[in-house]
Amino acid sequence: MTTMQAPGQTSRRLGGLRESVIREMTRLAIEHEAINLSQGYPDFSAPPEILEAAHRALDEGFNQYAVTWGVPALREVISENMRRWYGLEYDPMRHITVTCGVTEAIISAIMGTANRGDEVVIIEPLHENYAAAAAFADAVPVYVPLEPPRYDLDLDRLRQAFSKKTAAIILNTPHNPTGRVLTRAEMEGVAALCREFDAVCVTDEIYDHIIYDGRTHIPMATLDGMYERTITVGGLGKTYAVTGWRLGYACAPEPYSNALRTVHDFTTICAPTPLQHAAVAAFQLPDSYYETLTRDFTRRRAKMMGMLENARLKADPPEGAYYVLADFSEWDSGMSDFEFARYLTSEVGVAVVPGSSFYRSSGLGERQVRLAFGKKLETLDAAEARLMTAVEKRR
Ligand SMILES: Cc1ncc(COP(=O)(O)O)c(C=O)c1O
Repeated sequence: MTTMQAPGQTSRRLGGLRESVIREMTRLAIEHEAINLSQGYPDFSAPPEILEAAHRALDEGFNQYAVTWGVPALREVISENMRRWYGLEYDPMRHITVTCGVTEAIISAIMGTANRGDEVVIIEPLHENYAAAAAFADAVPVYVPLEPPRYDLDLDRLRQAFSKKTAAIILNTPHNPTGRVLTRAEMEGVAALCREFDAVCVTDEIYDHIIYDGRTHIPMATLDGMYERTITVGGLGKTYAVTGWRLGYACAPEPYSNALRTVHDFTTICAPTPLQHAAVAAFQLPDSYYETLTRDFTRRRAKMMGMLENARLKADPPEGAYYVLADFSEWDSGMSDFEFARYLTSEVGVAVVPGSSFYRSSGLGERQVRLAFGKKLETLDAAEARLMTAVEKRR
């Protein structure tokens, strides 16, 4: 007997998912002509060297499918940088895959490693995409919260989340939205659990170059016994201010590399070819580029912290990435975080993201909103002026 499909039936896998709140806030920002501090994309230009390289690639005719795993010269230069920056050895032929952003790399990694009913440990507040990755794989997400004010990773709590069913953990450091950079002790704690429970660590290191106060990024794959059980994911969008190019990469030994390549192959065929050629120029930028990047982001962070203080929004300075989760209790608004975010966007003209949208455990993030400061200083000045007008009105 064939089973009948009801008209309009859709996949149960998608049941727990809703549209990305961040992208919804961007739409609301456009509608209300608000300054968009909700979505994490820069409003300043990408380095001229890479824009020129993109023009050249188009003119030179790199407009057809690339090799599925990525343009060879790009994989070579990713491999060189992983060695130079972190001492990690990845064979560009076998271990590196260029993807359509970190988003696709995470989905491909989880779909390539988790089976139906397996558990995937996800640290929250989370990038919304991680929950989608678990859902697409028909896996069960198990959430472990980082809680304000310090957002430390509680290793006892993490241990409780691991079980025989754990296939993977998705880790993100520097962390969006808290700005935490996990300490070596926290990373070692995660690594020990991955080894004990034979789980793969999918690590989202998209903010590896946006890190403050002399801290250094510690890639999970550099920890003892972790290279062989880690899929390291990185991206170009944030470091080179090209979020719309949709370029990311996954570095992993076999068999993980083959598994994620299979998903990538049949989902996207390849990442945009001309932009992959331009990305070679991005990875060849001199060290001074990263020094300037750190200096500029440190200034933006200082501007954001000053603005928050003046606007009675409480937060500690982030250790990495370009977000702050700010507590709005002093506004005494009686509003939920969703209401407050909508109010700031539509009435004040500054778009932010409700804090609880980053949590799946109930009751968390309800006094916070997230602000992104990967923006021009003038943009942050303009946002501050609008916030201060609102603060004055409420006095
Ligand atoms: C932690 C994290 N991972 C992934 C992404 C998305 O990366 P991509 O644009 O490369 O897909 C973002 C974007 O904000 C992010 O903050």
